Amino acid sequence: MTGLRHLLADDDLSQEEQTAVLDLADRLAADPYAVQPFAGPRSVAVLFDKSSTRTRVSFAVGIAELGGYPLVMDLSTSQLGRGESIADTARVLGRQVSAIVWRTSGQQRLEEMAAYAGVPVVNGLTDEFHPCQILADLQTVRQHKGRLAGLTLSYLGDGANNMAHSYLLGGAVAGLHVRIAAPAGFEPDPVVVSRASQVAQSTGGSVTVTGSAADAVAGSDVVATDTWVSMGQENDGRDREKVFGPYAVTSTLLALADPQAIVLHCLPAYRGKEIAAEVLDGPQSVVWDEAENRRHAQKALLAFLDERAAEAGPAR
Ligand code: CP
Ligand code: NVA
Repeated sequence: MTGLRHLLADDDLSQEEQTAVLDLADRLAADPYAVQPFAGPRSVAVLFDKSSTRTRVSFAVGIAELGGYPLVMDLSTSQLGRGESIADTARVLGRQVSAIVWRTSGQQRLEEMAAYAGVPVVNGLTDEFHPCQILADLQTVRQHKGRLAGLTLSYLGDGANNMAHSYLLGGAVAGLHVRIAAPAGFEPDPVVVSRASQVAQSTGGSVTVTGSAADAVAGSDVVATDTWVSMGQENDGRDREKVFGPYAVTSTLLALADPQAIVLHCLPAYRGKEIAAEVLDGPQSVVWDEAENRRHAQKALLAFLDERAAEAGPAR
């Protein structure tokens, strides 16, 4: 597909496009200036409605390495924070920058930005999806396992959060067998599960949702988890500790996976909660590669989107 493109959710990229982005990400990991100068976006707005360390830093440094200027903004200090509409903000930003990255709450806010910006819009995390993280995760899996299609990735914990949904969709695009183990009441959105199953049919992957952490992990090539309390859920009154306990990635649980299995966590991690310290800091953990790959994968994505936007011609 040519023309103006966005990354709002993981299945906005086809399997072929995802592979092309990951191939470029690998080139950028070997040489940060492989795409230079100005082959990527010139100025990129990187906007935050929520906290961030990795996304903020990796986009800022990556855009600079592409020869561009990262305009990093906390949106609570913008006029959007005082009631200006998303549509008007999008129209203004689209006249100034060549791409917009936004970390916000509801997915529909991001969709509105994309509808009015006239430049590529990238999901820097919403309540529903975290597709930039999944690109970095897939790059990391490829680096350690040499391939993606046909591998089994199990994710344990909050099945209803952005990471679970993005593993489902992005993993299905990659042809992975994605297994989600979550307690009752924290299962993935059925709409996302059915979207992922449909994608998996064409890539040879599959999607499984189970209540059993042991069943999910058994024989897995990749074991992943995420915080039990996502941003915005801190005071929602739900008691997670008790229900999530059996889904903690401990060494006992990890022993059920393939002996060569690798462990992913998007970070920030809470040792002793969703993951044991000995696992996060142990030999099977590749979380620091994963964090580094955010920069490479996102640079590749921006270069990919910029190329499509150039084909689409002027936005106005
Ligand atoms: N994994 C991730 O997105 O980290 P930050 O919240 O620090 O950006
Ligand atoms: N699910 C987590 C991911 C943090 C990168 C959250 O939304 O807070």
